[in-house]
Amino acid sequence: MIPENWKSNFEAMPDRSQKSRSMRRIPRSVRTFQGSIGLARQLHYRYHRMMSDPDSVDDALGKDHERLDGLLHQLKAGIQSNAPAARKTLAELMGQLVHHMTWEDEVLFPAVKELAGAKERRSIESLEIDHERIRDTLRSLESSLAAGDFELARSLVRWLDTLLRGHNYDEEHGVYVDADRLLTPAVRRALIERFAAR
Ligand SMILES: [Fe+2]
Ligand SMILES: [Fe+2]
Repeated sequence: MIPENWKSNFEAMPDRSQKSRSMRRIPRSVRTFQGSIGLARQLHYRYHRMMSDPDSVDDALGKDHERLDGLLHQLKAGIQSNAPAARKTLAELMGQLVHHMTWEDEVLFPAVKELAGAKERRSIESLEIDHERIRDTLRSLESSLAAGDFELARSLVRWLDTLLRGHNYDEEHGVYVDADRLLTPAVRRALIERFAAR
């Protein structure tokens, strides 16, 4: 039998975040509509990636995000089990991630900035700040593993994961899409070839 006060108990549940409380103020029909747009957008990006346009920055770099995610996952598992091999995985991740970010900083971002409006340029500047944070975190992670401090490494790898998750999302829904929209296929192809030539 459902108790009379179920509703007030439900409202008082401690794990209901501020975000979910504010979400409840938005009518259900609007939330459903927003959810549908979100789903349609995800399906659009997934379809776009499945079709794998060779001249698409979003496709090429989105795939590299997925590959780097795999290495990060491997690193997290190594650090979790205090495995000395985690240093080798970190070296591999650092090499590839630094290459990825350097290409974005020196090749992609300047090319898009030249054609973009003020709003897009501000988004790119915020991505550049993210890159500095990511580089700092990688260096701290490297020092913590060199010192055998796995406890610190666990916190740092979680922070790196959080940073990369937000950063990659912003790029895949921002500068990569802008690049595909603003740059010609020939220019995009030349940029992607520079990325592939390590
Ligand atoms: Fe980036
Ligand atoms: Fe990226």
